[in-house]
Amino acid sequence: VSNKVEANQLPFPLNIRLSMWGWNLLNFSETAFTPDPSKSAEWNRGAYIVQGPGHCGTCHTPKSFLGADKDSVFLQGASLQGWFAPDITNNAQSGLGKWSEDDLIQYLKTGVNAHSIASGPMAEAVENSTSKMTDADLKAVAVYLKSLGSDTGASQPAKPDQARMVTGEAIYRDNCSACHGGDGAGAGALFPSLAGNALVAQGSSETLSRLVLAGSQAVHTTHAPTSPAMPSLAWRLKDREIADVLTYIRNSWGNAAPVVSADDVASVRKELMQ
Ligand code: HEC
Ligand code: HEC
Repeated sequence: VSNKVEANQLPFPLNIRLSMWGWNLLNFSETAFTPDPSKSAEWNRGAYIVQGPGHCGTCHTPKSFLGADKDSVFLQGASLQGWFAPDITNNAQSGLGKWSEDDLIQYLKTGVNAHSIASGPMAEAVENSTSKMTDADLKAVAVYLKSLGSDTGASQPAKPDQARMVTGEAIYRDNCSACHGGDGAGAGALFPSLAGNALVAQGSSETLSRLVLAGSQAVHTTHAPTSPAMPSLAWRLKDREIADVLTYIRNSWGNAAPVVSADDVASVRKELMQ
């Protein structure tokens, strides 16, 4: 066939193929997966899928300045494309500590569970990858992820000042509560609960600013075909108002996470405008 090959669009010096040699030397070891004999076959299967073909760390593991995975904080949360791929270790506050194995299997299979709905890059990962895995493989992934510890929960929940919480609550009531509920409990698989939601309590508020500014369409799978959407509120709310409402949801209904500043929101707005 005649096939027009797209020209390499990487900027210098990344366009020099040979530079991969140096990068590999620093960051790549050519070894096969070695099972841990002290763990079950199921755990090892999960470790193999997560570390290898599932590519979970590509998005969920923080990167060094050379773009390599920082293995010491494996799967503890990283930013990509204006989204924050959260901590998916078993950490009680920022990770999957509140999720059962079945919750995790349901999320990876359908994109939806009682805790969260997948959107953005994770919607792609669910649609094209995890929703097509066998139940046994998903169980193995769940067993493995639930065994991982992390200490990212140390992200200090700052005490937001009361005036901001009052303003944030008023903005929440006007703009969010119709869908997410006055008590943040959401509504089943349609409107995710914000109370006790690990995404809401991550150290980074990037995904939250993005959701409110740009809106979002949730995952679509054969198991969960509805794909509910959240409207973009960028036209309606100023950076300061979004910062207040996010600070409010991050510190209500049992949630505790750092306050969000108008500058945090402004930088995401700027990125979205490009
Ligand atoms: C292309 C990037 C990408 C890949 C690959 C990816 N994820 Fe994600 N993941 C994300 C993002 C971004 C989110 C946040 C989604 C959102 O805001 O709805 C997320 C969310 C999640 C959540 C929900 C966490 C929560 O607290 O709500 C789980 C669980 C998860 N991913 C597991 C996995 C597993 C397991 C794999 C590998 C099989 C994987 N992810 C691969 C980007 C990715
Ligand atoms: C018209 C209904 C609607 C309104 C109004 C709305 N949302 Fe949403 N929201 C949704 C839906 C549906 C989703 C799931 C979409 C997705 O995951 O892509 C969602 C997702 C979210 C999430 C991510 C939760 C997760 O686990 O994936 C957060 C956080 C959020 N909304 C906060 C807000 C805030 C703050 C406001 C007000 C400023 C707001 N929403 C207004 C419907 C709404």
